[in-house]
Amino acid sequence: MKTKENANSKLLKKLNDLLATYQIAYFNIRSSHWMVKGENFFELHKVFEVAYNDATEKIDAIAERILTLGGVPLLTASETLKASSIKEKAGSGDQEKCVTGMLHDLKELGSIENEIAKIADDQNDIVTTDLMTQYLGEQQKTSWMLSQFLDKKSSIK
Ligand SMILES: [Fe+2]
Repeated sequence: MKTKENANSKLLKKLNDLLATYQIAYFNIRSSHWMVKGENFFELHKVFEVAYNDATEKIDAIAERILTLGGVPLLTASETLKASSIKEKAGSGDQEKCVTGMLHDLKELGSIENEIAKIADDQNDIVTTDLMTQYLGEQQKTSWMLSQFLDKKSSIK
């Protein structure tokens, strides 16, 4: 019983780490949406808008999953900054930096989600595992598209 409780608190801790990291990723993406400049402005401005709206939904779903599992989501900005595994970045106007930054943040999110999926799987928590698998699949596709964009950019130079 005790082991099960420990495993559950490990899962809740990791879900809160993911929540915090997602909140900071949201800020980073939103800041890129506002600040990005240049020839692909309209394209990237929209890409970042879709991404931060998607992040909003996922942030809410993660927090509500934590509550459903009997935990308490991180509620303050200071706790969030402390628990996040990515740093907040004020958006630069540089397109490549904005896209590279988002790719970096998606990679961090993916690595936390991978860990959560494994822990949840060990606990036969198929709902959390399924949620993480779904997020990973979507983020891998977004990362592929962002990488394609960077390739396109480098071939123009
Ligand atoms: Fe906007």
